[in-house]
Amino acid sequence: MRIGVVGLGYVGLVTAAVLASRGNPVTGVDVDVSRIQTLKRGKSPFFEPQLDERIRNARSNIEFSEDYSKLSNCEVIFLCVPTPNTDNRIDLRYVMAASDEIKKYSASADLVIKSTVLPGTARKVSELTGMNVVSNPEFTREGSAVHDTEKPDRIVIGGKYVERVRKIWEFTGSPIIVTTNENAELIKYASNAFLAVKISFINQIADLCERIPETDVNVVAEGMGLDRRIGREFLKAGLGYGGSCFPKDTVAVSSFAKQMGVDLSIVDSAIQYNDNRVPFLVERMEENLGTLNGKRVCVLGLSFKDNTDDLRESRSLMIIENLKRHGAIVKAYDPVVRNIDTIDLYDDLSKCVSASEIVITATEWKDFSDIDTSILKGKKVFDLRRVFDPKKVEIALGVGIGKN
Ligand code: UGA
Repeated sequence: MRIGVVGLGYVGLVTAAVLASRGNPVTGVDVDVSRIQTLKRGKSPFFEPQLDERIRNARSNIEFSEDYSKLSNCEVIFLCVPTPNTDNRIDLRYVMAASDEIKKYSASADLVIKSTVLPGTARKVSELTGMNVVSNPEFTREGSAVHDTEKPDRIVIGGKYVERVRKIWEFTGSPIIVTTNENAELIKYASNAFLAVKISFINQIADLCERIPETDVNVVAEGMGLDRRIGREFLKAGLGYGGSCFPKDTVAVSSFAKQMGVDLSIVDSAIQYNDNRVPFLVERMEENLGTLNGKRVCVLGLSFKDNTDDLRESRSLMIIENLKRHGAIVKAYDPVVRNIDTIDLYDDLSKCVSASEIVITATEWKDFSDIDTSILKGKKVFDLRRVFDPKKVEIALGVGIGKN
């Protein structure tokens, strides 16, 4: 099938690369000319495991352009542009502008919205373009986006005429739910909001553990998670959720519910708790140390989670800012992020650790749990992502560890 993809960020580029590597001719369009130049040179503009390989393998099937007219012969066009919040509400300007352009050159194609949009958006886009609009939200996680696109838990397709889109994803062998546009749109928000609530919940249980000797939130989570009704995933206590999705989507769905006069206070409290998580943990560290002022601190990990170089809404950057405000002298190490002007960044983990008296884990990279723990001897370790084995490393504060 001839496929177009508009918006070549994490979602769009992975969709384009995966579908091209399955033999579909794909045209990827993005308004960012420098991104297109990078892609034309065969490179991915960001780090995502397996993505470069997929792009390389699909080279003969994929073309990149900033020109919407290149989409003219596509049968299905995936819309993967950002949906940021403005004044805490979803801002559809990119969705509408891109849809308007697509309509000019490919009015007979199916327009498939992958961007995260509130219920009612597909209807609006259909009114604007007169096109067959299909909702096909993505559930991929950065860091495992290729895997999640090729082997998702489920595929959700909303709309009246969905056959072509269903055919495209058949290769995954995953369960496909076909429903209305509105259900598909809401499934995405309900899923992200539920996962965010799960994270804030386990972080609160972690706080409780810290008050009870002989407890460990990881063990509590494991015991809870074996109950199939609860599930093991997304019960990792830590610094709270970041990234380009959960913070934005929880706020958008909360304000959407308010507009509808509906009580979604569970989500509101998950947001509020998450917003306070970093200052709360910095206060806990300050209590432990007496003061942070003048202390040499090494922060391990900068991205919002492991296996990505994405810094959007990164809890690590927030903690660094907060530590600096408390007078700490902060250095950082990250396995893939390089060159941030405002941060004293090391490209060697053990040098960063040895130049410091305090070590904080802020991202859950496996590289950190694999280190030779002898370099941590004599350091105060604040394991905010529970990277280290508390039996092997003396931990000053480990999220969710109840000390005697
Ligand atoms: C999230 C969802 O997991 C995807 O299903 C969805 O498609 C995507 O948003 C989106 O809406 O586009 P992503 O933002 O890539 O994916 O990252 P997650 O793996 O969900 O992690 C989000 C944040 O929660 C990270 O900061 C992570 O460290 C934190 N987290 C996650 C925890 O603190 N504990 C956990 O147990 C899991």
